[in-house]
Amino acid sequence: VSSIINAGDYNIYVGNDLLKRFDLLFANKNLSASEKIILVDENTRKHCLPFLLQQISSLQNTAVFELKCGEEGKSILTIESIWNQLSNSGADRNSVLINLGGGALCDAGAFAAATFMRGIGFINIPTTLLAMVDASVGGKNGINFEGIKNRIGTFTNPLAVFTAPIFLETLSEDEMRNGFAEVIKHALISDKEKWNEVKQTDVHFKNVDWENIITESVSLKNKIVQSDFRDYSLRKALNFGHTIGHALESFSMKHYSSPLKHGEAVAVGMIAETWLSEKLCSFPREDAMEIYSFINKTFPKRISFNATEVIELMKGDKKNAERKINFSLLKSIGEPVLDILPMEDLINNALEFISEQFNSVANPI
Ligand SMILES: NC(=O)c1ccc[n+]([C@@H]2O[C@H](COP(=O)([O-])OP(=O)(O)OC[C@H]3O[C@@H](n4cnc5c(N)ncnc54)[C@H](O)[C@@H]3O)[C@@H](O)[C@H]2O)c1
Ligand SMILES: [Zn+2]
Repeated sequence: VSSIINAGDYNIYVGNDLLKRFDLLFANKNLSASEKIILVDENTRKHCLPFLLQQISSLQNTAVFELKCGEEGKSILTIESIWNQLSNSGADRNSVLINLGGGALCDAGAFAAATFMRGIGFINIPTTLLAMVDASVGGKNGINFEGIKNRIGTFTNPLAVFTAPIFLETLSEDEMRNGFAEVIKHALISDKEKWNEVKQTDVHFKNVDWENIITESVSLKNKIVQSDFRDYSLRKALNFGHTIGHALESFSMKHYSSPLKHGEAVAVGMIAETWLSEKLCSFPREDAMEIYSFINKTFPKRISFNATEVIELMKGDKKNAERKINFSLLKSIGEPVLDILPMEDLINNALEFISEQFNSVANPI
């Protein structure tokens, strides 16, 4: 079933057929887009652009601008090249940028649009699972700067988001897993029933009703974001799994040639933080066991790590004031508890817990 999620001043359309609403959007908002520019990267030009042009015939002759793929594209150089492209093509305040790509491309495109001439309109068409369920809602955009992720950016909503699950067909299983961690997280922090659905998902993502999963996942995040757009309070629940997850991600980038992806690190982070939730928030044992077993089978990639170094990385994380390590944990599924500051010994035990689990899983790298 196709659906439309209201995210405040814009809509998120989920469904392969909903791209057809694109022209309607311009008519409704009285937008005379004097210029549209489509941003792609090498992969989305090949895999996604043809479908987009086939669905929206009015875009046939639109200029297409290609960025570098992935995280490397989130740099000030890329932003400059987008601004250049906009200037050279005579863009004005009515111009609209169409971002066709994963979270990295959408983050860069949205930032360039949010700043060009104090802000022109942009439309996100996410093409990875991560971008569909996570980056599509919340208004955050940005680039990396001086080696720090998302250092520069704004909170700016798009005119609309069009999510067509058909784009997932060309995505690798690895990339699917990367986004699926956030699907798990949204369910765990919001709703036991949704978790009961999510935990049925096949480990190789066969025969999954993505339209349904994406719609529910985005709706859950949307509810949280609407209550705290600028990320001062309730939005912290979205950090579940991320305090330990980010640190493991950084550790693995530093020490491994094939590091854990963000989602893989967050999945493991959710195991450790569920364990902390058991110890500190009376999270029910039975549910915890279920989470451990589902994540272990869905996310088999493991690394060995040095706990002291991982804890140091957590202390350096920008989200942690005065080197205290801040956690968003769970009292039960759907009931987040914010601003928990565990003793360092206990964090160490949580890391030990995942190390033990790692040793019992099949393929460590
Ligand atoms: N703004 C937000 O709220 C928010 C939320 C979560 C993540 N992010 C950001 O998102 C980024 C990660 O997102 P991502 O994993 O989507 O990154 P990405 O954009 O780098 O995409 C991953 C890879 O998949 C390729 N690809 C994209 N769509 C494809 C398709 N349909 N078929 C085949 N290949 C395809 C891309 O070319 C790229 O190589 C990070 O930079 C992160 O900071 C932002
Ligand atoms: Zn994340």
